[in-house]
Amino acid sequence: MIFLRRRSITILVLIYFFSNCTTCYSTSCTNGCDLALASFFIWPESNLPLINQLFDNISYSDILEWNTQITSTFILTESRVHVPFRCDCLNNGEFLGHVFSYNVSANETYDLIATRRYSSLTNKELLMRDNRYPDNNIPDHVTLNVTVNCSCGNKHVSKDYGLFITYPMRPGENLSYIALVTNTSSKLIEMYNPMVNFSAGSGLLYIPGRDKLGNYPPISTRKGSSGKTIAALAVASLAGVLLLVGIIYVGIYRRKEQKVAANIPVSSGQCYPPSPGLSGIHVDKSVEFSYQELAESTDNFSISNKIGEGGFGAVYYAELRGKKAAIKRMNREGRTEFLAELKILTRVHHLNLVSLIGYCVERSLFLVYEFIENGNLSQHLHGRDVLTWSTRVQIAMDSARGLEYIHEHTVPFYIHRDVKSANILINKNFHAKIGDFGLSKLVESGNPTLNTRFMGTFGYMPPEYGHSGVISRKVDVYAFGVVLYELISSKDAIVKEDGVDEARSLVALFDEAHSHPNQIEAISRLIDPKLCDDYPLDSVYKMAQLAKSCTEKNPEMRPTMKSVVVALMALSSSHA
Ligand SMILES: Nc1ncnc2c1ncn2[C@@H]1O[C@H](COP(=O)(O)OP(=O)(O)OP(=O)(O)O)[C@@H](O)[C@H]1O
Ligand SMILES: *[C@@H]1O[C@H](CO)[C@@H](O)[C@H](O)[C@H]1NC(C)=O
Ligand SMILES: *[C@@H]1O[C@H](CO)[C@@H](O)[C@H](O)[C@H]1NC(C)=O
Ligand SMILES: *[C@@H]1O[C@H](CO)[C@@H](O)[C@H](O)[C@H]1NC(C)=O
Ligand SMILES: *[C@@H]1O[C@H](CO)[C@@H](O)[C@H](O)[C@H]1NC(C)=O
Ligand SMILES: *[C@@H]1O[C@H](CO)[C@@H](O)[C@H](O)[C@H]1NC(C)=O
Ligand SMILES: *[C@@H]1O[C@H](CO)[C@@H](O)[C@H](O)[C@H]1NC(C)=O
Ligand SMILES: *[C@@H]1O[C@H](CO)[C@@H](O)[C@H](O)[C@H]1NC(C)=O
Ligand SMILES: *[C@@H]1O[C@H](CO)[C@@H](O)[C@H](O)[C@H]1NC(C)=O
Repeated sequence: MIFLRRRSITILVLIYFFSNCTTCYSTSCTNGCDLALASFFIWPESNLPLINQLFDNISYSDILEWNTQITSTFILTESRVHVPFRCDCLNNGEFLGHVFSYNVSANETYDLIATRRYSSLTNKELLMRDNRYPDNNIPDHVTLNVTVNCSCGNKHVSKDYGLFITYPMRPGENLSYIALVTNTSSKLIEMYNPMVNFSAGSGLLYIPGRDKLGNYPPISTRKGSSGKTIAALAVASLAGVLLLVGIIYVGIYRRKEQKVAANIPVSSGQCYPPSPGLSGIHVDKSVEFSYQELAESTDNFSISNKIGEGGFGAVYYAELRGKKAAIKRMNREGRTEFLAELKILTRVHHLNLVSLIGYCVERSLFLVYEFIENGNLSQHLHGRDVLTWSTRVQIAMDSARGLEYIHEHTVPFYIHRDVKSANILINKNFHAKIGDFGLSKLVESGNPTLNTRFMGTFGYMPPEYGHSGVISRKVDVYAFGVVLYELISSKDAIVKEDGVDEARSLVALFDEAHSHPNQIEAISRLIDPKLCDDYPLDSVYKMAQLAKSCTEKNPEMRPTMKSVVVALMALSSSHA
């Protein structure tokens, strides 16, 4: 009796509910879910600190864990990053979304915040609805409510998909493109986005997402706890209600979405096996070595394995897990505060950067690098074997590309701060890789008195370094200019000339030649005699001009590494 009465009331309520709202089936909710992903498009001005600020102080490691598809944690601009967030049932069950807090900067409008800051994950209308400030007059530093929509799946479409990516479409994108870049079948995307115009170039999509292991997590089924008979009865009546709701729900859904519903059976050629609940497993790809393993691989850090000594400690040759490696034993503690940075650094991979394979923080801080067979550039310039001009151009190009990568294509961008010929390593094919990259960050977070050595090397430091305290990418451009002069002359960055008391910088020496009345002749006198006139003078001269612009006193006059790469390409192709 009671059961029936309840049911009839519910039916009445439901009928009322449905008759007043034609789209409830797609937007209403009773529960949220713990996880959804936002597909965040990276604008050139975005960086990890900004993402952290936009998405409620999300930790870097949380971002990195969900973006293992990028081989480096350096985020390419104009790529997309998955940002995990909780998907809540908002506005008394009206729709699924999450309200983020955003601290407004000067002169930002709702449109800018929606399209540029949040990359269209929200829109201006929602922002104006949720915040009381007028659009043209949002006070600085107030906190806004920013709603980002999400989905927890739709069991009427399929129970096999329980994690969803909120994907804002961008102009120029279409269904086949999105299917390709998300590695999801077009059919599946269409199933979950029945009303969407895929050629509009805007609007949100919900795309089934994979967990950290690459599997599709199914819709989570919350386990109810029952014990007493009353509870059991309640469950039974609830089940009855749900059954009815289900029938009405599916009925309405079917009618509206006949075409889509017909596609539900998994017969689309692609097979998506339901995954067991593995989403909680933590996958950490970075490599942390034990002290014991490092000691064994270097014959207990024996002197015969030592291959170099830098400002921060000794470097040892190692055979580690069957691979050649170079282990840098830093003369400082391996404090845990370095771990986040180290994890980031182990994921940077570029042809022209020496890779950090792993690290160890037991006893001291150890950095494990890939082994580069052929020593450093400084050794080659001063050694007996002669680097040909075309090899020097190649080395310049490789190093410039490595620096361009950390300056222009990573978010956040990095400044090396210790570019010099001793930090440019040469492999067996005479290609160059920049070493010691990222070390400045590790050193910075430690004791400042230890920094002085690292902050730069005499002869490579630009004039603004001493007084302004402003460190920009142009610091590296200056040092790179000095390396170009070294490639031309095989002289050190600081030159001690015979018969002259004071040592001078290589930059001063070349500046003098550049301003000489007979410039070409003056520069020719500085060219490495070991080249024995076996070089195109035009090419050498152009490189000297490039080095001159890199070492301009005014940092703003120096080119970016991007322009340097372009200039070097022109220079090397002209006599290839
Ligand atoms: N990955 C590597 N593979 C092979 N040799 C290496 C590697 N890393 C360093 N070396 C060798 O060890 C030497 C010392 O390296 P390190 O980077 O410690 O010193 P540095 O660059 O001369 O000085 P600083 O530490 O002040 O930058 C290098 O010049 C190089 O010859
Ligand atoms: C983020 O961190 C700032 C500063 O620590 C704090 O004021 C703010 O409340 C935090 N925001 C959230 C959503 O946790
Ligand atoms: C904001 O706008 C005002 C007036 O248009 C301008 O004076 C001010 O410099 C702007 N501030 C910023 C940070 O752009
Ligand atoms: C999010 O959902 C709400 C409610 O369905 C809708 O009004 C809003 O336009 C959606 N937001 C975006 C960015 O599409
Ligand atoms: C954000 O939402 C909260 C809770 O709904 C509300 O109290 C607050 O006034 C909102 N903030 C703005 C700027 O409107
Ligand atoms: C917003 O940012 C400004 C400057 O960055 C800071 O002074 C202010 O405390 C922040 N406000 C909140 C609520 O976090
Ligand atoms: C979809 O976009 C891609 C790349 O933007 C384009 O090459 C392709 O022709 C487009 N397909 C359709 C059907 O418009
Ligand atoms: C793309 O998806 C298929 C099927 O889910 C999977 O087997 C394949 O590994 C995925 N490829 C990539 C590059 O993720
Ligand atoms: C979809 O959007 C495109 C571009 O805005 C428009 O030309 C087209 O008419 C739309 N299609 C439908 C079916 O609304």
